[in-house]
Amino acid sequence: MGTFEENLEDFVNSRFGIFVHYGLYSIIGRGEWILNKEQIPVGEYKQLADRFTADQFDAEDLVNLVKRSGARYLTFTTMHHDGFALYDSEINPFNTVNTACGRDLVEETVEACRRHGIRVHLYHSLNHWTASPDGVDALEDETAHKEFVDNTHARVEELVKKFNPIDCLWYDGSWPFNSVGWKSEKMNEMVRQIQPHILINGRNNLPGDFATPEQHLSPPSPWRPWEACITHNRSWGYHRGDHQFKPTFQVIDMLTQVACNNGNLLFNIGPDGKGRIPEPTRRTLEEVGDWLEINDEAFRDMEPFGFNYYKRFDMRGDFMHNGRFTTSGNILYLHLHKWPGPGFSLGGLEQKAKSCRVLGCDTEIEFSQKGRRLTFSGLPEAPPQRYGAVLALECHAPPSIYQLGGLRVPHVDHPRYNPLKRGMTLEDVAPESNSSKKKETAQ
Ligand code: GLC
Repeated sequence: MGTFEENLEDFVNSRFGIFVHYGLYSIIGRGEWILNKEQIPVGEYKQLADRFTADQFDAEDLVNLVKRSGARYLTFTTMHHDGFALYDSEINPFNTVNTACGRDLVEETVEACRRHGIRVHLYHSLNHWTASPDGVDALEDETAHKEFVDNTHARVEELVKKFNPIDCLWYDGSWPFNSVGWKSEKMNEMVRQIQPHILINGRNNLPGDFATPEQHLSPPSPWRPWEACITHNRSWGYHRGDHQFKPTFQVIDMLTQVACNNGNLLFNIGPDGKGRIPEPTRRTLEEVGDWLEINDEAFRDMEPFGFNYYKRFDMRGDFMHNGRFTTSGNILYLHLHKWPGPGFSLGGLEQKAKSCRVLGCDTEIEFSQKGRRLTFSGLPEAPPQRYGAVLALECHAPPSIYQLGGLRVPHVDHPRYNPLKRGMTLEDVAPESNSSKKKETAQ
């Protein structure tokens, strides 16, 4: 295990991770909130343990699929809000070892990840509905609060001692308390004392080492390491009636979008009660893996990219009519998600281009450059790959693009537009980034 800084850098460059939501709720197949949403009596819910055989849960197969997809890490639910632990716990007897399956599924998964060089991220819910006293008792009574929070700290401690070292601890379920109520500072200190290199997310209501936007791809502003968690269909835990899986192209496009903003995509799988990975998810992950095998370099080590007439705070750029851009060093990657045909032009490139290739093909692509307009020729009529292709354009300096999107094509240089010079305040132009800054300093 390296240092915290090395771990953070590795995480930022990982780009793609797989989330797994698996637990007792997967048997019923109406999502991971079923205990709460259907108000199932706890005693009745716990009886599901007799049916939890997990006979098709195969950690080796799961991690092989993660690897095959091009993802670099696995975030595994060790215990969700229902309080059912997927590991052998002395603190919480409501766990997989004491069920029909009689196995420690977290251990199996962590070991498989280590065998295959996949980073290990462990999800753990702070609050849970089968605790006694529970979160509501804890809100109403001081003694119950102490017992409840102490119990949570003890569970977290047991987890990070048992699975040591891991790369990341992913808290969730932080209601009904703020960071003071959870004693989150103390919680993080305890975790870091056991595993100094570990990354911690912000879901115990402290900022954490990275942001976790859920079901959307907007990066934090100002930028800091971030990871968008997104479901494949519309459910985290297995839902028997949810067949709305995102097509492969959409997943590739999401990956490109997070890469543009130097973030990660945490893509969710919801295995069914037996532990089987839904077929559409398996297929999509294999196809994404095929794509990344060819185009991987256009997703790693990304750098900020100057695009358009003003830098939009930490965001990089306007729309492109053929697809998105990423950059690394002197290379500009053009993700041609809408194949342009045998020739097209790139407007606004401010550097001199040196050479160009299509990722996955050896042939050099021809181009000519006139001022800021670069014209490519001799591309194939149809995209060389099913989901378009990526052009890697090497320039003499780190690339940037200057366009007057929505205005006329400039024949003369215009000064860069700076809204602050037009009498606007930072609050007018970026109220969100400003207020989130305020929140951070308040904490
Ligand atoms: C939310 C949900 C939870 C899911 C998680 C994933 O916090 O409560 O069910 O596990 O988001 O990010």
